Order: sequence, then structure tokens, then C-alpha cells
Amino acid sequence: MTARFEDLPAQFTVRAPAKINLHLGVGAPREDGYHPLLTVYQAVGLHDDVTVRPAPDWSVEVAVPDWMDAGQLPRLEDNIVTRAADLLAAHHGVPRAGAVDVVKAIPVAGGMAGGSADAAAALVALDRLWGTGTTDEDLLRIAAELGSDVPFALIGGSALGTGRGELVQRVEDAGTWWWVAVPSDRGLSTPQVYRHFDELSPHAPAQPPPADDLIAALASGVPEALAAALHNDLQEPAIALRPELGDLLDRGEAAGALRGLISGSGPTCVFLCSSPDHAREVAATLADPDGGGDHPTVLVANGAVSGAHLVEYA
Ligand code: C5P
Repeated sequence: MTARFEDLPAQFTVRAPAKINLHLGVGAPREDGYHPLLTVYQAVGLHDDVTVRPAPDWSVEVAVPDWMDAGQLPRLEDNIVTRAADLLAAHHGVPRAGAVDVVKAIPVAGGMAGGSADAAAALVALDRLWGTGTTDEDLLRIAAELGSDVPFALIGGSALGTGRGELVQRVEDAGTWWWVAVPSDRGLSTPQVYRHFDELSPHAPAQPPPADDLIAALASGVPEALAAALHNDLQEPAIALRPELGDLLDRGEAAGALRGLISGSGPTCVFLCSSPDHAREVAATLADPDGGGDHPTVLVANGAVSGAHLVEYA
């Protein structure tokens, strides 16, 4: 039986994950100002949902949870969702039209690629809404134009990122990993953290440091091995700009986490734990003022999870 036009779905919700950089090796800046990266991404179970519906014009509404500061969201005209729509519409020569709702759970300007997740989800959702049938290759290319982390938000899982982070390939991952994430109440500017990296490391090698140990640890599935191999070249500059992050990392490790790490350019701090129960214990200690914690928002997430994918249509 052939579906009638009015029976076809007209509303799509696409979910996209946050990321953690398990290894973030940074080299000296290139001529275009970007830094060559050798990074291992992991997609973790904190998600933003992007819903698109047909509309004659263009609108983007963003909803944030209570603990998030809506004031940190970029203005509509700068929003990466609108830029994603512009690039996809231009690629196919179709008008940019639709009503978009973004429901955020990934910290804004937190080093977990929340904006990149929104862009990836918007590309997948709008491609369905407009019926443009973009190839995977074209989607990844448009994603790379939008930002260094956007291609990873499309593929998810655990992946090696090279170039400026936009060239992604799957790596073997034998574990289910448990993380505690502590967002900050103030975002940190990624360009500012990279600039501070340049100031602190004026003789950084052109080639970023390799991730062989980390890749072997991921393939082993052993949390202690992964903890020992975690590495982030942006951690020192992020802590130099926000010294309290160093204290938070110490507190998480004192609470029993296998290892604390700044996520990407920060300021979100993530803590690797050995099991779901262990993660809940560490989270409870960090949230408890009597335990020296006092962090109002402490999240637990597992990895690796899928990249941007359709979760609902109506
Ligand atoms: O690619 P994206 O727009 O996410 O990058 C944001 C900023 O982060 C860039 O403008 C640049 O200052 C910095 N960056 C960098 N090297 C990278 C990725 C990002 O210097 N590999």
C-alpha cells in the first residue's frame, strides 16, 4: 500500500551526544590559526534533542534545564543551528524554512561540544524534513565547515580525530565507561584557552603527541588502564585561567574517582569511575556540601554512545 502524503511524518526529533576528549594532543598553530590535533573522542550519554517541523519561515527556540544559564546561549543570528541550516539549504538549492526546537542537556560553552551536537542534530533532522537525501560524505563535509567537533557528533562512539579534529575514524572500544561530569556555572571561551596554550607552550612541536597508550587502553576495556592513559594538553591552560578547576579535579579524585580530567577546553570536569555504582557514589560526594563538594549540578553519563540519530517522528 502506498502512503498518502498527509500520512508521512512531518516532525522529526534527532538526538546528538556530548563528547569527552580522552586524549587531546595539541600541536603548534598552523598558518590558518587552527591547531593540529590528535584526539580520541568519546560520545557520552548527555544529549541535546533537536526537533524540526515544517513552517513557511525560519525560527529556532532553545529550552535549557534549570541549572543552565540561558544567558550564555549565542544570539539567534549567530546560532550554529542557523548556520547548519544555511549550509544545507545552499548545498541543495532549497529555501531555509522550518521551526526548530532545541532541548539542551549538554552544558553550554562547557568543552563538551554542545553547540556541535546541536549542529549535527540539525543537519540530520533538516535533511529529513526537506527530503534532501544528503550523502554521508556530504554531511561530514558540511559538518566540518561548521566546526572541528561537528563530524564527530555525527558518527559518535569512540573515534580518532586528526587535522583540526574534523577528520574522524572509529577506534576499537571494548568497554562501557562511567563518567561523572561537573559543569561550571560560567563557560570558558575555546579560542581563549587555545591562545593561552600558545603562551604557555611557545615551542610546541608541529606534530601533536600520539595517543597509542590511550587507544590500547580503550581496546583493553579496563577502567584503570584508561584512567592512566587520559591526557589533555588544554588542561594546564584551562586551569591557569580558572584555578578552581584544579581544586575540583583534586576533590573528585579524593572522592574516589579513578582520574579527573578537564573535558576539551573546559570548564566541565569529568571523572572516570569503575562502575555505575561507583559513579553515583563519586557524584553524591561532589554534590554534598558536607563532603567538601557543594557542586549543585553533578551529572552521571556512560560512554560510548551513538552519534546523531533519529529518535522520534510524528
Ligand atoms: O572549529 P571550531 O569553530 O569549533 O573552533 C573554535 C575555535 O577554537 C577556533 O576559532 C580556534 O580559535 C580554536 N581551535 C583551534 N584549533 C583547533 C580547533 C579549534 O585553535 N583544532
